[in-house]
Amino acid sequence: MEAKKRSKMAWLWENMKGYRVIYIVGILGTLVYNVMQLTVPYFTQKIIDLFLTGEEATANLVNKRALFFQLIITMIVLTFVRTLIVYLVCMDVEHVSQKVLYRIRVHLFDKIERQDMQFYNTYRTGDLMTRVTGDLDAVRHMIAWVIRSIVEAFALLFATAAYFFYMDWHLAISILAIAPFIMVIIVLFRNKVAPRHKALREKLSHLNTAAQENISGNRVVKAFAREDYEIKKFDTCSVEYSKTNKKTAMTWLNYFPYIEAFANLMPVVLLVVGGLFIINGRITMGEYVAFSSLIWAVQNPMRMLGNIMNEFQRFSAASDKVMEIYYSEPHIVDKENAVDLPERFRGKVEFKNVSFRYEDGNLPVLHNISFVANPGETIAIMGETGCGKTSLIQLIPRFYEPTEGEVLVDDINVNDMKLAQLRKNIGLATQDVLLYSDTIDGNIAYGDSSLTKEEVEKFAKYSAAAKFITKMPEGYDTIVGERGVGLSGGQKQRISLARALAVKPAILILDDTTSAVDMETEKQIQHSLNELDFPCTKIIIAQRVSTTKFADKILIIRDGRITESGTHEELVAKKGYYHSLVQLQTGEEV
Ligand code: GTP
Ligand code: MG
Repeated sequence: MEAKKRSKMAWLWENMKGYRVIYIVGILGTLVYNVMQLTVPYFTQKIIDLFLTGEEATANLVNKRALFFQLIITMIVLTFVRTLIVYLVCMDVEHVSQKVLYRIRVHLFDKIERQDMQFYNTYRTGDLMTRVTGDLDAVRHMIAWVIRSIVEAFALLFATAAYFFYMDWHLAISILAIAPFIMVIIVLFRNKVAPRHKALREKLSHLNTAAQENISGNRVVKAFAREDYEIKKFDTCSVEYSKTNKKTAMTWLNYFPYIEAFANLMPVVLLVVGGLFIINGRITMGEYVAFSSLIWAVQNPMRMLGNIMNEFQRFSAASDKVMEIYYSEPHIVDKENAVDLPERFRGKVEFKNVSFRYEDGNLPVLHNISFVANPGETIAIMGETGCGKTSLIQLIPRFYEPTEGEVLVDDINVNDMKLAQLRKNIGLATQDVLLYSDTIDGNIAYGDSSLTKEEVEKFAKYSAAAKFITKMPEGYDTIVGERGVGLSGGQKQRISLARALAVKPAILILDDTTSAVDMETEKQIQHSLNELDFPCTKIIIAQRVSTTKFADKILIIRDGRITESGTHEELVAKKGYYHSLVQLQTGEEV
């Protein structure tokens, strides 16, 4: 999942499509209003030289009264115009930054949403959350503030420098000779602060991950009375973050005094050199005042550069993280020449010599698995915990791809199918039930929101959930909490079964879905699974013989291998693992 090598600025530019022109207008506006900073000193200089200090000052005041007022009024009008431009520029860049932020965020969420299982095994939720919130904000800040500030600093600096040269180049050089020293300090600062921003970004991600895991896992924390421990653990993350934050902020303080000292040297140079020049008559008093009133326009950009550099490094660290997701590609995608199968599948499932190993694991979890489930058949999969049952069924909707061999549905390799079409034909009730914080009705109709109330109730009946749902205060409109809080384990399993059935799948996969329901309820469910009003191949992982007994075929898996396969009677006759299971569970000699 490596980010493509593309420069950050090119990436930003690409995302500004549609807003580039108005952004450039904004940046030009920034140039203009900064150059306009010079108008006030320019007019002041004129007024001083003509009407206050010159030899003909008194005469001018009488003879050129109109010019005097003209100068003053122009000065005032320009100040107003400048303020207006500043206002418009701020609106403009803010607008663009929000639009770009929105665009990138939608793109990111889209990317995250379409990732495969491997991605979710790699990235932690808290870290992903940091990327779509804090990191993205740093990107927005870059557009709204950092770029504009860079232009502002340099526009002001260069315009002032040009004006200084225009007035007197000797004095200009004397003052500006200090600038390179400041630049060197800024570069040293950047080298120091860049890694700190990277570290800060990591600490923030740790902090968010700790918070997220604790909040969603709070029940476990409570059960083990580990609140104090978790609070301490979070506190450590928090302290780490705040320390790094402080260290990053303090970095500037180590460089700031030097910059300030150099910046403050400028007025001193002006006083000494400029004073001498006035005495020599090289420059006028008006020019001296213009120099003096503009010296801040050279000092301030220098001071600003530190802060700009800080924010730029924050952007740099954050955009690395955002771009990594932005350019990430899921490994499991539709092939270019994927077969188009818009019709409902017949529901044949076949494994041909399938072996599988997780990318992040070093040992294979499935070895040479072969079996066929014909349309409408029920296949039961049994085996001790960790033997590879869940891994096996995850290959059918192509959550993962086999390392060797083929998984076929309706005689077509699932790798050649369109993911959406394949998955639409599969109803899956996972082992780890996850419900959304929505109504029960909304949860059941999750895969098909066009489902009518009656149909939802029908599927709830199939999964033996109708009874307890109607007993709830708001019935089907009862909102279940996050991850299904407020329901028992067996109730959650039954809603998840109804949800899987509600898409009327051609292939129904149940991963230990009735493990938490009582025998009586299980019997009901089994009965209705046989009576479904649509054709459906069922692949059922279960631990109880009572569930698997009536399957067309039972597969026993051990350490990732099929060790026994056949019907109940065949396997009992074999006197192997299944036989001992039957004895164990029924307590009878068979
Ligand atoms: P139960 O659900 O407990 O009955 O087990 P199961 O038969 O469903 O086992 P599953 O297929 O989940 O796991 C088989 C093996 O794969 C185990 O040894 C797991 O440790 C391993 N495994 C499961 N998921 C992952 C994964 O995402 N990455 C890696 N590397 N290994 C995994
Ligand atoms: Mg499992």
